[in-house]
Amino acid sequence: MEKLFTVRLAADENAVEILDQTLLPNRVEYLRLETREQLWEAISELRVRGAPAIGVCAGFGMYVIAGKIAGDILPELRMAGEYLVSSRPTAVNLSWAVNRMLRCAEENNGSRERMLTALRAECNAISDEDIATCRAISENGLTLVKSGDGILTHCNAGALAAVEYGTGLGTLLLGKERGWEFHAYCDETRPLLQGARLTSFELDHAGIDTTLICDSAASMLMKQGKIQACFVGCDRVAANGDVANKIGTRSVAVNAMYHGIPFYVFCPGSTIDFSCASGDDIVIEERGADEIREKFFAQPVAEKSVKCWNPAFDITDAKLVTAIVTERGIARYPYTESLRELYPDRKSPSEATR
Ligand code: MRU
Repeated sequence: MEKLFTVRLAADENAVEILDQTLLPNRVEYLRLETREQLWEAISELRVRGAPAIGVCAGFGMYVIAGKIAGDILPELRMAGEYLVSSRPTAVNLSWAVNRMLRCAEENNGSRERMLTALRAECNAISDEDIATCRAISENGLTLVKSGDGILTHCNAGALAAVEYGTGLGTLLLGKERGWEFHAYCDETRPLLQGARLTSFELDHAGIDTTLICDSAASMLMKQGKIQACFVGCDRVAANGDVANKIGTRSVAVNAMYHGIPFYVFCPGSTIDFSCASGDDIVIEERGADEIREKFFAQPVAEKSVKCWNPAFDITDAKLVTAIVTERGIARYPYTESLRELYPDRKSPSEATR
């Protein structure tokens, strides 16, 4: 199978090209996103998803939008950025990338050509840095496990959630390249099934021994001694180490602690939000009832009249997290100190978007 890409700038620079992840694993189709409305819809509908990939998409998107603004770019680009950020509230990489592009536009607000040249370089840098960052995270992850380990995954934090390697799955993918053998157990991840549709697809194609399980089977698997570590990505990490990630992550962490299994969170520095003191400050996206009642089923599994609650993410308390693995190193509890030691340049809340 040909190598897939998650998100890139189109060769004509008039669009962002994405793999439509809502169609996986049944169809591989790419989309051209040419307008801010198309970008908003693609992020909101999870055609492109995963915190780093959303950030890269927003970076390219801001450049494409800027190129289409006829008059004064900056005021309209600011409005477009605000609009894009409203597509999904929890993954901080979205606002991080938009703010980075806006800062670049402000710093190069001379001629139109100068601004567009700088914006092109900036969005390409966001994408290139993501590759290097994920690779460094994966190297650090390899110091925590050994060949032969059973690894439980939740949601999808692989190459499909980034540009290459990904965060939570990067260690498995890099290890495989080096001849390590892992046994991956993938939570299917209700309700949008990122674990089934994306993670099992990615790992299986990479030649990793992969077993798909229902989310509710994870605890039994831990009791049976099949899991040596849990690997998850994250959408936002608060300054105290509380972690927002796909709904169900907290259950995995609680279960892991009960069974004495390390629970590792993988993230780039861009996912740490020092302006959030704790998880209480993180806005949790709530999505529609149809995702629980009918999406991905041949027929509805609950009546329309049944009330549903569908938070897309949950908060895992810092105390449940064995370590947070970043591109700069591995942080351990208490995270207020260890994260700041890794990122002294981002200490103050006012620097949160850097
Ligand atoms: O709703 P999604 O599919 O965008 O949620 C993604 C996750 O929760 C991932 O674990 C997270 O973004 C980390 S991706 C490297």
